[in-house]
Amino acid sequence: MQAIKVTEKIYWVGAIDWNVRDFHGYSTNKGTTYNAFLILDDKITLIDTVKKEFYQEMLSRIKSVIDPKKVDIIISNHAELDHSGSLKMAIADMAPEHVYASVMGTANLKAHLGDDLPVEAIANGGSIDLGGDSLTFIESRMLHWPDSMICLLKKENVLFCNDIFGMHYASCKRFDDEVCEKDWIYEAKKYYANIILPYSKIVTAFLGQVTKLGIKPSIICPDHGPIWRKDPSKIINLYAEFAAQKNKNKVLVIYDTMWGSTEKMAASVTDGLIAAGVEVKQMSLHAVHRSDAATELLDSAGLVLGSPVLNQELYPSLGDLITYFKGLKKQNLVGAAFGSYGWSDGALNELETIMKEKLNIEIAAPCVKSRFVPTEDKLKECFELGLAVGKKVLEKNK
Ligand code: FEO
Repeated sequence: MQAIKVTEKIYWVGAIDWNVRDFHGYSTNKGTTYNAFLILDDKITLIDTVKKEFYQEMLSRIKSVIDPKKVDIIISNHAELDHSGSLKMAIADMAPEHVYASVMGTANLKAHLGDDLPVEAIANGGSIDLGGDSLTFIESRMLHWPDSMICLLKKENVLFCNDIFGMHYASCKRFDDEVCEKDWIYEAKKYYANIILPYSKIVTAFLGQVTKLGIKPSIICPDHGPIWRKDPSKIINLYAEFAAQKNKNKVLVIYDTMWGSTEKMAASVTDGLIAAGVEVKQMSLHAVHRSDAATELLDSAGLVLGSPVLNQELYPSLGDLITYFKGLKKQNLVGAAFGSYGWSDGALNELETIMKEKLNIEIAAPCVKSRFVPTEDKLKECFELGLAVGKKVLEKNK
């Protein structure tokens, strides 16, 4: 397998995972890549490795350029196993002089790969001389693990940023200017919504720090998806926009249904939202994966949840979604709850409480509950609920 030239000095030596469809609960419909990079300087340096199942692919790409035994230094920017899973095998085959990670990275790599891992901690702001050029390291804590760091190849002005500015997108092309912009914008949004969103305040601070340090890379090499060479500022600006969480006049109606009653209610809620003049996405959890719902949540101002009651509890798919959304910590939402029940409506009261207390949603209208099949009057209440949420969104976004 072939390495791909990024610059005269840098090669992409990663792996393409065409068929992964579940990345810790995130639906990766387009697969992903695990990017690793080889720097050919006096000290030959490998930046990150790949998921262990793809080690031979990475090794064979390195072999297309140099003998892997010539690798002097391995940098591990992040301990998660999609980038460190083959680190032990790489160390065994390449016998590098040094393996470096952040202080936290050193501890986390040892926790994953064993205390005997020969990894050295590099301080925040530290540099290493590669001969012709040098690498400077900056911790990027919580983007998206406490151990994450980025490094800048100074003279080449190339930034290796691990997970941030990445996306799950398998392609036969390696660069931003070779892939469809509409596709990558969607996948970048999906990646941010599902991986980075809880750390949005940290992203804003991090981007500020990067600017303050005068870092304006000519190429950005993330560990997933395309390499940014045409206009790296595009992905940086997109991150600044995502992190600001400026919501559109948009509301999601997310629900599940057992015998169709909650779905009928959802349609009337949606109708009310349309009448209020906001953009709406009606999403049945029968049809939509939680991570696609999260992608739509990123720029939404409203969230309306609907559930049937099953065994006196919320429908299980709603439980799944609520747990997932709680972790994503989306800010500034308004919303409301609705649903159908047979003989006990307690779970629907609980849904409204969870939305308020766990998802931090400002409730714009009381929960609408229908016993079995909704009557015309009940559907009118659902319409009014949609109208109230829509009006509140427009009022807040004024
Ligand atoms: Fe791509 Fe946090 O690992």
